[in-house]
Amino acid sequence: MTETIQDDFVRSFRASAPYVHAHRGRTFVLLVGGELLKSAGLVSFVHDLALLHALGVRLVLVVGARPQIDARLAERGLSPQFHDGLRVTDKRALDCVKEAAGVARVELEALFSMGLPSSPMEGARLRVASGNFVTARPVGVKAGVDHLYTGSVRRVDADAIRARLDADEIVLAGPLGYSLTGEAFNVSTAEVAVAIAAGLGADKLVGLVEAPSVPSGDGRFGELSLTEASALLVSAGDLAVDVRRQLAAAVACLEAGVPRAHLVPRRADGGLLRELFTREGVGLMITRESFEDLRPARLADVVGLLALIEPLAAQGLLLRRPRELLEMDIERFTVATRDGLVVACAALYPHPEEHCAEVACLAVREGYRGDGRADLLLAYLERSCVEAGLERLFALTTEASHWFVERGFSVAALEDLPSGRRKQLDRQRRSKVLMKRL
Ligand SMILES: CC(C)(COP(=O)(O)OP(=O)(O)OC[C@H]1O[C@@H](n2cnc3c(N)ncnc32)[C@H](O)[C@@H]1OP(=O)(O)O)[C@@H](O)C(=O)NCCC(=O)NCCS
Repeated sequence: MTETIQDDFVRSFRASAPYVHAHRGRTFVLLVGGELLKSAGLVSFVHDLALLHALGVRLVLVVGARPQIDARLAERGLSPQFHDGLRVTDKRALDCVKEAAGVARVELEALFSMGLPSSPMEGARLRVASGNFVTARPVGVKAGVDHLYTGSVRRVDADAIRARLDADEIVLAGPLGYSLTGEAFNVSTAEVAVAIAAGLGADKLVGLVEAPSVPSGDGRFGELSLTEASALLVSAGDLAVDVRRQLAAAVACLEAGVPRAHLVPRRADGGLLRELFTREGVGLMITRESFEDLRPARLADVVGLLALIEPLAAQGLLLRRPRELLEMDIERFTVATRDGLVVACAALYPHPEEHCAEVACLAVREGYRGDGRADLLLAYLERSCVEAGLERLFALTTEASHWFVERGFSVAALEDLPSGRRKQLDRQRRSKVLMKRL
C-alpha cells in the first residue's frame, strides 16, 4: 500500500465516523428489484448489508421478483398480464410468484450465511427472518377487470418485525402477502416497503434503482424536499419505470412520517455505502423538512423582525438593529413564519469578491425553538451560497460559537474575514469568528 492510499483510507474512514454514529440503532427499509438476484453485484451487495448490520443498523430488505416471475411465466408459455400498470395474477401466475419469491428467499438466505475465512463475511453470523408479516386483501375488480390474486397490503405486523430486529436479525420481505382466508396474494414490493417503513416508524427508506442514475435534485445537492419530489413525479414524464416506482414509494413513506428516503443507483459500486457514509452521496435524498416555510423577508415583516430581534439584542445575544437598518437590509433577510408571525430569521451578507458570505442575526423566537428551524435556515443559506458560487460561510457570535461548531464551522481568526468586513467590525463586542467551507 502506498502512503497516499493509506492516507486516503484513514481520511475517508475517519470522515465516515459521524455517519456511523448517526446510523447506529436506526431502522432502514431497503427496497430493491428482482434484477439484483441475477446480477454480478449481488454478493457485494450482501457484504455491504452485512457491514451495515455490523454497524448497528436495523435492516428490513424488501426484494422484488418481477424478472423471475416473468421468466417463469415465459417457461410455461404464458405472458404477463397487466391492467392499468397493475399485474393481473391468475392461479398459474400466482404459482410463478410463489416459486420466484421462494427461490429468491432461499438464495438470499444462502448468501447471508456466507462466512468463509478472509472474506468480508468472516465472523458475520447473520440471521435472516421472514414470515407472514404482511396481511393482504384482493385488489378485486377494477374497471371491470378482476385482478384475481393481485393483492394490496391490508396491514403489516410491525410488532413481529420489530421483535426480529430486536433479536439482531435482518428481516426479509417479498412480493407476497397472506389473507385472513388463508390465501397468498401477489403484492407490489413498493407497497410492502412503504407499509413496513410506516408501520415500524423507520428512519429511512432506501430504494435501489436499476437506472444508471437518479434525478439529480437541484445541481450538486442531490436533495429534494417532499414537495419537490411530489412535483417531480407529476412533471417528469421521462422517468425510468423503476425510478418512478421508487420515487413514489419514497414520497409515500415521507408522507407517512418517515423522515428521509434515498434513491441509489444499484449498479454504482458501493453506492449504498457511499450514499449512507459520505457527505456527497451518489444518489438522491428526499427529506421531509422543507424549505417551503422559508421566504425572503418583505418590508411588512420589519415589525415582526423587530419583535423577534429586540429582546435578544437586549440580552446581548444579537446586535441591535434599528428599524431603518432593517428596512434598508430587508432583502438580506430570510424569515420563517407561522400564522403570520415571524418566528425565525437570518440574514446573509455576501462578499463575492472574496467568495464568502456572512450569516448574521440568526434567531428563533422562544416557544418555537427545538424544531430544527435554525438548522433549516442555515441549510437554506448554505444552499444559496453554493448556488452563487461562494466557497465559505462565516458568522460572528459572542455566545453561540458552539452552536456553529456543532454544525461544521471552525473557529477562525479575524484575519480570515474579508477586509471590508474587518474594517466595520465592532471590536468591543469581542465576537468570535466561525467559518465553514461549503
Ligand atoms: C441559536 C438558535 C437560533 C437555535 O434555535 P433552534 O435550533 O430553533 O433551537 P434551540 O434553541 O433549541 O437550539 C438547538 C440546539 O442548539 C443548542 N444551542 C442553543 N443555543 C446555543 C448556544 N448559544 N450555544 C451552543 N448551543 C446552543 C441547544 O442547546 C440545542 O441543543 P440540544 O437540543 O442538544 O440541547 C436559538 O437558540 C436562538 O435564537 N438563540 C438566540 C440568538 C442567537 O444566539 N443566535 C446565534 C447568533 S447569530
